[in-house]
Amino acid sequence: MLYHVREMREDDILQVTHLEKILFSDSWSQSSVTSSLSQENVKIAVAVSDENVILGYHIFYTSFEEGDVARIAVSPEYRRKGIADALLSYMWEYGVRTGIERVLLEVRESNKNAIALYRKHGFVELGLRKNYYKEPLEHGVIMEKKLDITSRI
Ligand code: COA
Repeated sequence: MLYHVREMREDDILQVTHLEKILFSDSWSQSSVTSSLSQENVKIAVAVSDENVILGYHIFYTSFEEGDVARIAVSPEYRRKGIADALLSYMWEYGVRTGIERVLLEVRESNKNAIALYRKHGFVELGLRKNYYKEPLEHGVIMEKKLDITSRI
């Protein structure tokens, strides 16, 4: 299956919002996705098939030298094909280019697939945020990655 990773555009909003709705209990509304798209400190990458179907997306916040993985998600039928790898690698290139030195994230303790993905990309565990997540209530694992020109997988 052929796809490429590019920056999100306005005509992607409906597809990204749909994926949010089906994948997350705390899904972002269409208006949140829309307003994020125009914010200076938010970068959103999408993986798009040749038929213009969005297979996955990654929302990344920046604040000076720090980045934050706010979301990464891949449509269930396209998982385990390297799409999350490609989305993160795209963001590391962007981060290195724009002077990001450190990336943080929180992830549900039970989300073993995402934790494996983040470890593969060089994140290490810093600690736990107790009962950080609701519905269902769960601890969040805090992870950190140092970003430099060798940051790639
Ligand atoms: N079991 C074990 N490891 C897994 C895994 C699974 N089911 N899925 C991904 N990984 C890890 C592996 O380290 C894998 O590397 P490998 O293939 O060399 O073993 C690495 O992630 C990259 O896999 P990739 O195929 O790029 O991941 P993906 O495109 O399937 O997407 C998620 C991974 C986590 C984004 C996807 O499962 C998803 O959308 N989950 C629901 C949303 C979510 O929980 N997002 C994270 C919190 S915001």
